[in-house]
Amino acid sequence: MIMINNRLHGFQRSCRSVAFPRWTTVDASAHKLLVYLVFVFLSVTLPIAAGAKDNSDVVSAKSFGKTAKDEPVTLYTLTNKDGMSVSLMDYGAAVVNLLVPDRTGKLDDVVLGFESVAPYFTQTAYFGATIGRYGNRIANGSFKLGDHTYQLPKNNGPNSLHGGLNGFDKQLWKVEHKESNPPSIRFSRVSPDGEEGYPGKLSVNVTFTLTEKNQLRISYQATTDKPTIINLTNHTYFNFAGAGNRTILDHIVTLHANAFTPVDSTLIPTGKIQKVAGTPWDFQTAKPIGKDIKAVGGDPVGYDHNYVLEGGASCAAEVYDPASGRLMKVVTDQPGIQFYTGNFLDGTLTGKGGKVYPQYGGFCLETQHYPDSPNHPNFPSTLLKPGQVYKTTTVYAFSTK
Ligand code: GLA
Repeated sequence: MIMINNRLHGFQRSCRSVAFPRWTTVDASAHKLLVYLVFVFLSVTLPIAAGAKDNSDVVSAKSFGKTAKDEPVTLYTLTNKDGMSVSLMDYGAAVVNLLVPDRTGKLDDVVLGFESVAPYFTQTAYFGATIGRYGNRIANGSFKLGDHTYQLPKNNGPNSLHGGLNGFDKQLWKVEHKESNPPSIRFSRVSPDGEEGYPGKLSVNVTFTLTEKNQLRISYQATTDKPTIINLTNHTYFNFAGAGNRTILDHIVTLHANAFTPVDSTLIPTGKIQKVAGTPWDFQTAKPIGKDIKAVGGDPVGYDHNYVLEGGASCAAEVYDPASGRLMKVVTDQPGIQFYTGNFLDGTLTGKGGKVYPQYGGFCLETQHYPDSPNHPNFPSTLLKPGQVYKTTTVYAFSTK
């Protein structure tokens, strides 16, 4: 049984207002199942009884182009009463647009992306995508399960990155269900046994919900028919000045993590858990992203590191843009968060509105297990066995100050 730790220290510290599911294990007891069924029954019947409208005003759909195999790709938009909206496409189950109010109420699109699906086929930035089966890197694309060594495609130097050449970001997902109160959409797919070298047939879904409190909640669920490894995340690049307007170096970040996992020159963890205090990686007290970025080094220079979280529904990160007043808090049940500052962006991608995305044009906060966990017995396990349910939630909560 996979346990989801329910300690709330960090969460209570500063993300108190962020609603978060409070399950303690992923295997629902009969009691929980009953409560859940009653809840589902009421949420379906009550709106009908109350004569609620259909969900077309809060979940809209339009064509976003076609895949190489000529399959239609659809862009769905969820809108809440505050006017905040998120648009998601079924290709890659990806966040494409996110309109968030600034302190004067003006909406701006704060995520990097493109105006149609075609540029997503070739870009290697993973804009907005659902990443799987294994977010981040696996050293030499190789890992052992039991007596068997599995070899994955190497798509990032000597390593495997973000699920391989045709990871979940390159797949067309099914839309399984849409809800209007609050607006929500679920994408699902069955990843066949052996897809991109991973064992087991994996049934997976990801649900995006936009709450009335301007929170974007992403919940993942998966089951397998053979032991496998899993590490799902979302790869949205945020820029609170509006995508393509300036870099994020002046955004002020707090990371509620006192340690990170240092990496080698190919960005594979060395296995150490290193304290951040006194290093350029220390964001325990809020500071601008650009303040110590040069001292971090790397090629290209910048943050591309996994921070160690305390687990439970922890408040992992806060990002504030003083110019617009936009503030985002990230709450997650995951043990790690990859802080990536768009180091590999180099001005060659032109995104929405014809805007060029420069280096540091966006930042990602990818909630996850640690990179290369299958090859580090001291890291939390990413093993998923038949009969278990992989279940994880991350909330990106927006406000202004
Ligand atoms: C991740 C990685 C980065 C980079 C980006 C995509 O976040 O950690 O090194 O590969 O994806 O460009």
